[in-house]
Amino acid sequence: MKQTDRCSTGIKELNEMLLGGFPRGRTTLVEGLPGTGKTILSLHFLIAGILENPKDPEPAILVCLDESPSDVMREASAFGWNLQRLMDLKQLKIIDAFSGRLGLKPNLELAVPIGKFSIEEVTRLITEAKEEINAQRLVIDPVSALLDGMEGAERRNGVLSLTAVLTRLSLTTILTSELDQAGVGVERYASHGVIRLGYDEKDMTVSRKLRIVKMRETMHSMDVIPYEITVKGIELKV
Ligand SMILES: Nc1ncnc2c1ncn2[C@@H]1O[C@H](COP(=O)(O)OP(=O)(O)OP(=O)(O)O)[C@@H](O)[C@H]1O
Ligand SMILES: [Mg+2]
Repeated sequence: MKQTDRCSTGIKELNEMLLGGFPRGRTTLVEGLPGTGKTILSLHFLIAGILENPKDPEPAILVCLDESPSDVMREASAFGWNLQRLMDLKQLKIIDAFSGRLGLKPNLELAVPIGKFSIEEVTRLITEAKEEINAQRLVIDPVSALLDGMEGAERRNGVLSLTAVLTRLSLTTILTSELDQAGVGVERYASHGVIRLGYDEKDMTVSRKLRIVKMRETMHSMDVIPYEITVKGIELKV
């Protein structure tokens, strides 16, 4: 059992803003417009758990909902992150919740079969993966795809039952969410923390900005922090 109650985000400046990192065992929502870096930030977090403390790694689960696992693996490799190697070392499990939804045959061992997509099926696979590798971190990218078509009370119950399962499993979790998705409010209230990634458009230039919207139990910074995406991933310009 880890002593610290914080989990490194993999981004030094963000850890400092969060007094050490994300609260252990809790769920943080990373929301933002397309291309703001939600998936890349999530990968920083997964990789940090495995590589920052090699003597006591925190195995991780990545649930891919809107991109095929092979696309995510290729994108990660551009930043020097070899996800296949981490899977071979049994430090990472990727769940394919993408292919089956499109009627395609998944080629991963953990996958939602064609026609079987539901929150219950995805949480069943997460539970199975957690048992197999003793996972301590989880990313669901994006959670909004799990809640598609749900509104009002159904959506609220979907989010609450999902976060209840994740809390029971003691997984430190990032849920990503598209900012312009209708009904995103429920996820914000149900999550322990919210980080927002956005764009600043001025004159003819566009820059990136990050803000911690909320983080329970944390006296965090409210500053709007510019960031860049480079070959090293997300770099905050604090
Ligand atoms: N190798 C790279 N070097 C520099 N920047 C990159 C690289 N790969 C991607 N990017 C930048 O990161 C963006 C994509 O980041 P990411 O996939 O994390 O965004 P996202 O918020 O998850 O997007 P979506 O909503 O589409 O899932 C690209 O639009 C590009 O601006
Ligand atoms: Mg993404």
